[in-house]
Amino acid sequence: MSGPLILAVESSCDETGIAVVEGGRRIHSNVVASQTALHAATGGIVPEVAARAHIRWIVPALDEALADAGATVADVDAVAVTYGPGLAGSLLVGINFAKTLAWVHDRPLVGVNHLEGHLYAAWLVDPGESERDEPPLPLVALIVSGGHTFLVEMTDHLTYRLLGETVDDAAGEAFDKVGRLLGLSYPGGPAIQRAAEGATRHDAAFPRAWLGDSYDFSFSGLKTAARRTVEAARAAEGLAPDDPDARLSDAATAELAWGFQDSVVDVLATKTIRAARELGARSIVLGGGVAANAALRARLAGEADALGVPLVVPRPALCTDNGAMIGAAGARRFAAGDLATLALDARPSLPLARRAAEVSAARSGG
Ligand code: KG4
Ligand code: ZN
Repeated sequence: MSGPLILAVESSCDETGIAVVEGGRRIHSNVVASQTALHAATGGIVPEVAARAHIRWIVPALDEALADAGATVADVDAVAVTYGPGLAGSLLVGINFAKTLAWVHDRPLVGVNHLEGHLYAAWLVDPGESERDEPPLPLVALIVSGGHTFLVEMTDHLTYRLLGETVDDAAGEAFDKVGRLLGLSYPGGPAIQRAAEGATRHDAAFPRAWLGDSYDFSFSGLKTAARRTVEAARAAEGLAPDDPDARLSDAATAELAWGFQDSVVDVLATKTIRAARELGARSIVLGGGVAANAALRARLAGEADALGVPLVVPRPALCTDNGAMIGAAGARRFAAGDLATLALDARPSLPLARRAAEVSAARSGG
């Protein structure tokens, strides 16, 4: 594999990621300093705490990534950095760091959309892994993270059409909130998955918001239903409503975690498969932190197989935030000549794609 060697920086949320990636695919190194333990005490991310942790870890992460890759900054063809969407303070740390590296070492700077990074994680190949085909285009991608949930059609490289998105909470946010309701550890997604694996009855029924035949998603009604169901289960076990020390039994927790997860997985998988079928996609890509979920991966794998369309889903550590995915997308932007200047600024609400109707309204000045 050949192509540009990219040094990639990711700091949009609560993981400090630095990676060296070749040709948009081959990982030479991928260091992630996770702040999960730091945020567990507050049960969620405090933006200033996250930004300060990036400042603390970004230089050691760079040193380790370069050492792992056996490279220096002078060896790389460009420095790529996430400039949005994400937490402003967190993004600014990575952006300023990448700008400084690019300026001092006289390397081109590439700004990368974090969501495009999650999508291009499907192209990554691990060190030592044999080469494999790229996901064939056009494809349908489901990106599900703590802050975003959307379906896009990708007709060509760097070209997307938004099919649908969440109208309220992101899927990962729903996992995190329901995890908290169940008294599970932070973040809620992996904890709910683990709890659900212990369920034996599989009869807890939670609502599904289908929103007609649109490709949009909604998880706020499910969250409300989960709150009511958890309250009822606590009352049935004689537990006080708000006593965090009095935990629901493991058996009830497992059933509720399973029921909630089954509802999220059902809606995500059904809409993704329908989009792939209706649009004649040649592959399906799954990305973002929630794509690490084993139940979602298994369900989509089975249905994509039945449809005869390959499912490409990165290994779990490449689904959650990391620098390698920014290196994968950054290489494509670099090859397309899409370079940033040293005026690059954080874009906390940067979208990946807009709906066709919004694009034509903007063109006609509407
Ligand atoms: O992509 P990501 O690392 O950060 C954002 O860009 O948001 O996604 C983090 C989200 C969290 O909400 C976390 O609970 C969820 O991904 N997550 C999972 C799993 N692992 C991480 N959700 C369900 N099942 C998992 N195994
Ligand atoms: Zn992410």
